[in-house]
Amino acid sequence: MIHPKKDTHWTMASGFATQAVHAGEQHINPYQSITTPIVQSSAYAFPDTQALITFMTHRKEQALPPHQEYGRYGNPTVRAAEAKLAALEGGEQALLFASGMAAITLTLLSLLEPGDHLVMTADAYRKTRAFGATFLRRWGVDVTVVPSADYRALAEAITPRTRFIYSETPTNPFLRVLDLEQVVHIARSHGVRTIIDSTFATPYNLRPLAFGVDLVVHSVTKYLAGHNDLLAGVLIGSSELVDQVREAQGMFGAVVDPGAAYLILRGLKTLALRVDRQNHTGMALARFLETHPRVRRVWYPGLTSHPDHSMARQQMRGFGGVVSFELDGGIEETRRFVDALRLPRLAPSLGGVESLVTIPALMSYFDASPEERRAQGITDGLVRLSVGVEETEDLLEDVRQALATLDTPVATILQGQRR
Ligand SMILES: Cc1ncc(COP(=O)(O)O)c(C=O)c1O
Repeated sequence: MIHPKKDTHWTMASGFATQAVHAGEQHINPYQSITTPIVQSSAYAFPDTQALITFMTHRKEQALPPHQEYGRYGNPTVRAAEAKLAALEGGEQALLFASGMAAITLTLLSLLEPGDHLVMTADAYRKTRAFGATFLRRWGVDVTVVPSADYRALAEAITPRTRFIYSETPTNPFLRVLDLEQVVHIARSHGVRTIIDSTFATPYNLRPLAFGVDLVVHSVTKYLAGHNDLLAGVLIGSSELVDQVREAQGMFGAVVDPGAAYLILRGLKTLALRVDRQNHTGMALARFLETHPRVRRVWYPGLTSHPDHSMARQQMRGFGGVVSFELDGGIEETRRFVDALRLPRLAPSLGGVESLVTIPALMSYFDASPEERRAQGITDGLVRLSVGVEETEDLLEDVRQALATLDTPVATILQGQRR
């Protein structure tokens, strides 16, 4: 039962970290537990036929009915996680999905129709671009890809059939930061809506809805859940738009499991603490790498050398935990550096408490053609490091020693391994 006086123990005026702990959760839970329980049930029972008829009569009037009916249409633990996510991002409603890609693809499939046109920016998660280029086109949606942060190209790409502009900020892997005010201005002056994948930013660093963006999506798998232990995605925005997608999700069925929703609630409670540390370490690592003779170039929006530094400073609280950099050498040197790292794991994700490292040429772009790699700027020396919440100095020391192996003759390294 909800305690009548205490269900507003947090307010929209509370600070971010306070909302992260309390938003979406009841002050007094069933069984007086501090935490929101995991309601592990596929369906929900009605006490009698009158209760069923009352539910069926009124369910459409309430976006979030207090009673649930069936797991594909809602679950109390999932609803609590959605309410917390909506509060943190500053949206009316949030809708969780089984993965980030489920959130992105099902949002676009639900809101677009054959004959519509979509404008996407180029520097984006490869699978999202592939979805636009292959799947959406097959279903009769025309897609135009424009260079990231080229606002003239963005405006010129809009046609009378354009329904949405879709972009990421910061982007993957070069951390380009969009001028959201300009994007929203261009979109609105053409009657077009905007969707931003804000996975790399997190609502702690940037809240796109405050700039007038219509919908925000995240791979919750990354910073929001934050512990490298689950897959999920979320859509956040106005009830009008999110409800349309919710209706479609009841058909598509890519819902998140209540156990994963519990872990999302738990992960979100420390989002501010984690991202603060990741912002700090990301900045320290980027500064260190920029001065190292074996590093050709660093992409981090906190550095003045980044093309979008001033935009990032205007829009963002911090610059995040992903640092991309290009080593001086070919694929052999890049492999040697990554294999010498002791703390970051070689794995294709980001945003969690454990640091992870990838070589895009050997991972997300392994099977890409040389032309695609060139067009996307993916070189053999490119490394993407996602810092976790380890001690900043320990990570810097690890990167320092791994870079030193590039100046060590290969024979000496092999000798050391044999010993
Ligand atoms: C920016 C971005 N968006 C979306 C996704 C897809 O999310 P998921 O892996 O949770 O499906 C990723 C995954 O790496 C990503 O980096």
